Amino acid sequence: MTENYKKIKQIYEGKAKKLYTLKGHKDLLLQEFKDDATAFNALKKGKILNKGIINCELTTFLFTYLRKKGVRNHFVKQVSANEMIIDRLKIVPIEVVVRNIAAGSLLKKTNFKEGHQLAKPIVEFYYKDDSLGDPMISDSHALAMKIATEKDLKTLKQMAENINTILKPFFLKRGLKLVDFKLEFGKDKTGRIMLGDEITPDTCRLWDKKTNKKLDKDRFRFDLGGVNEAYAEVRKRILGK
Ligand code: TMP
Repeated sequence: MTENYKKIKQIYEGKAKKLYTLKGHKDLLLQEFKDDATAFNALKKGKILNKGIINCELTTFLFTYLRKKGVRNHFVKQVSANEMIIDRLKIVPIEVVVRNIAAGSLLKKTNFKEGHQLAKPIVEFYYKDDSLGDPMISDSHALAMKIATEKDLKTLKQMAENINTILKPFFLKRGLKLVDFKLEFGKDKTGRIMLGDEITPDTCRLWDKKTNKKLDKDRFRFDLGGVNEAYAEVRKRILGK
């Protein structure tokens, strides 16, 4: 923490992060990254060594990079190893998943084998609601529930596709295939949609370019071993440390 940003109150604790209000900055929040890891709607729980620090550093780096490429996002400033200041957004309760290679839940919806290169990226919407287990929804579900407008959905899809176009070559240059990833968005006080949340090995599938070794949270989800090492390897490839 720097003197300029004094935490007042924790307003949210999720599975991997906490949010705090800040003294004298009503349009900002402090986002703290935890070492805690969960999977399958928190049925499985654990910790990953230095995950809070690694995910904070990676999100700082990637959101700064995306901003340079014109992607509006909530990142303001990293203020400690595992804390960052972000714009306060009104979260759109939709998780946007982009897929380049078949893996994970796509294998239950299609006959694609794991590793199949998709002819075109797939964009999916999930309703962010733990009590329902974050079900996949269509545009019409989102409109019927009034959680987004037609225009919002178009923006979410366009921004997600644009982020994919930017990040795919970014990761590939660092020896990582961007298999799929999850994004969250929110609206700022003027109503503009911005990218929020995080981009980390918790929210992306990243495979080694040559060996297809999984270097992401799937190692934790499916007890593949070498979880801490995978996070450290991604940190090294992206941040060089
Ligand atoms: P899925 O294949 O399980 O649907 O996951 C797609 C991507 O979304 C994958 O990169 C992991 C990420 N993800 C999250 O970030 N949070 C979640 O709760 C889930 C289920 C997936």
